[in-house]
Amino acid sequence: MFLELKSKWKDVKSRKILSLIDRQRVNNFSIQTNGLFFDYSKTNIDEDTLGLLLDLLKKSSFHEKREAMFSGKKINITEDRAVLHTALRAENGPILMDGKDIMPAVLGTRFRMLNFAEAIRNGEIQGEGGRYTDVINIGIGGSDLGPSMAYLALRPYTNGPKCHFVSNVDGAHINDVLEGLNPRTTLVVVASKTFKTIETLTNAQTALDWMAKKVARPADNFVALSSSMGRTAQFGISADRVFSFEDWVGGRYSLWGPIGLSLAIALGRDDWLSFLDGAASMDRHFIATPDEDNICIILALIGIWHAQIGGYATRAVLPYEQRLERLPAYLQQLEMESNGKAVKIDGNDVEITTGPVVWGTSGTNGQHAFYQLIHQGTQIIPCEFLIGKQGHEPNLCHQHRLLQANCLAQSQALMVGRNLDDARKIASLKGFVGDELERQARHRVFKGNRPSTTLVYDKLTPACLGQIIALYEHRVFVEGAILEINSFDQWGVELGKELATALGPVLMGENAGEGNDASTEHLVQILRSNK
Ligand code: F6P
Repeated sequence: MFLELKSKWKDVKSRKILSLIDRQRVNNFSIQTNGLFFDYSKTNIDEDTLGLLLDLLKKSSFHEKREAMFSGKKINITEDRAVLHTALRAENGPILMDGKDIMPAVLGTRFRMLNFAEAIRNGEIQGEGGRYTDVINIGIGGSDLGPSMAYLALRPYTNGPKCHFVSNVDGAHINDVLEGLNPRTTLVVVASKTFKTIETLTNAQTALDWMAKKVARPADNFVALSSSMGRTAQFGISADRVFSFEDWVGGRYSLWGPIGLSLAIALGRDDWLSFLDGAASMDRHFIATPDEDNICIILALIGIWHAQIGGYATRAVLPYEQRLERLPAYLQQLEMESNGKAVKIDGNDVEITTGPVVWGTSGTNGQHAFYQLIHQGTQIIPCEFLIGKQGHEPNLCHQHRLLQANCLAQSQALMVGRNLDDARKIASLKGFVGDELERQARHRVFKGNRPSTTLVYDKLTPACLGQIIALYEHRVFVEGAILEINSFDQWGVELGKELATALGPVLMGENAGEGNDASTEHLVQILRSNK
């Protein structure tokens, strides 16, 4: 199937996308669902290609794999775990795992968590100095990126205490956050599934020491979000301040449960529940919609077409929504930690490239930074634009229209480009003539024919954000199923952690670090010489 697609690629790769575009294509190559409009007409995919991609999907046993995930089978085979983060946002059950309904426990934790969030918001639970004014979420990776991205995205809906996020073990991060906060009115949320992550535990200890200087019972202002009750107790956090979740929730998929506590405190019960509902509506769409109309599947197939078939090494995510500035960073973990693998589930090597690298930032900022390369660089970078019909600033509608104009202009420019004749006219108007006109004109050519997709949403509400995140989660699942990899483990981060644990004492001068390679040893010496 991959071979057929590759040969199709060769046939169509220099065809002009613009030559395909008409109203019928726009209808056929777009999906409308639940307040979202997804346009993929500006890609080089035609009916025939779509048919081949859908066949590829079928042959990958995707449908069986999807069923296995939602029915609680242990599809994360290297960790022997089910993958049921979707249960965290389900309204009700039953959802069975090993023959047992997990929903009573999920709903119980949701109930406890929301009661706690409301009690923080309304001042029923207070710090020594009165109502909590600030919440610090200390976590990293999946225990940080989700809540911090969503907190920024949903700023118009946050009306609880102010949330801060500390992730990096660099002391500068926690230092800069603690500066200016009052330990007597600050709640610290330690978010770590394993409760073993060195960055998080180190920052949590620093926060505890900071609080201990001003507060009689510092641990009372700490909450833990974790699957390890043993380790949270060891840290000194009492069981009634721990919100736990099971090992069938992967770190980068964990925003929907206790790991979202800081966000739930910021939003309050109703908006939190509509955030979950939005995601659950995307789950229903993913399960029940035929493949060709399924937005998660189509997004994934476009990804496969561009990265695995076409060989484009990266893709840019470009939200025209300042509050989605952190979405690309969130998607980097979601997509790259999930599908950056080299071995298939059966233990054999993956024969095609995995990935791709995901990157981006919010429009229009990116336009004044890296879009030059996207438009005229030698690599082709498929772009995924996101734009809302409405903003949240009724008094600044004109700015929102300008934002939309920029978004559409970029996808149009990528596709249409500018040919040499038109570039010559521009150079001529600038007064250039002869050889110089030719030279100047060539710099003003845009080859165009660069693919992009555009996701339009009504307004970035909690429900809409839930939908968008779930859409991307399922896209990762579909791509992983086609690549036959396990999207739910992350062994690639382990070696670095082990080596850092060994190098820490060497840098502190506690041992000589024998056995290190000469390059690393030399760098250790250089760093230590500046003690
Ligand atoms: O980066 C590796 C990783 O294990 C991620 O998968 C995870 O989200 C992150 O570390 C944090 O892990 P924990 O929540 O256990 O502290």
